[in-house]
Amino acid sequence: MNLEISQAQFGVRPPVTKPIPEFLLEIGEEGLRELISKHYDSIRTSSIYNIFPQDDAEFAQAKVNSADFFIQICGGPKYFNTNRGAPQMVGRHAPFRITPQARQTWLELYKPLIKELKENGITETSLYSFWGYLNIFSIWMINTQA
Ligand code: HEM
Repeated sequence: MNLEISQAQFGVRPPVTKPIPEFLLEIGEEGLRELISKHYDSIRTSSIYNIFPQDDAEFAQAKVNSADFFIQICGGPKYFNTNRGAPQMVGRHAPFRITPQARQTWLELYKPLIKELKENGITETSLYSFWGYLNIFSIWMINTQA
């Protein structure tokens, strides 16, 4: 698979397309929770861990909140709205120093996990749709120039 990372221009928020419904149908809610959990686990040993919760219980809760959001944005139940309120992702990321390099690292950590999903039978069409969402929406979270 060719998982490209688009060049981000500071302050520019390109239009985002939500993942196609087939992605959630194929991966399932538990599969998506597992994906997010593995991504957070790889963050733990990465250069961007410093901006994430250092406390184990908070870190575990962060996985839950994030998975709630991703299930919702992929067309599933509105767990995030129920548990955390309006998404307002840009505002929620504002307290953290997110540079273009941090976004790049964050995305890179998804790549092996997405390739693993392909090996486990998730279609490329669904995976590219999910990747496209991550690639573009992550640009929105950049709030600090390198
Ligand atoms: C597609 C892009 C992204 C989405 C959909 C996303 C989603 C989320 C969600 C749902 C939360 C939980 C917010 C809450 O419950 O209050 C969160 C938290 C957070 N995100 Fe992101 N995020 C994205 C990109 C990034 C990037 C690129 C970084 C940094 C490199 C990042 C760093 C963080 C941090 C530090 C937190 C707070 C700790 C935590 O709750 O995990 N996020 N994100």
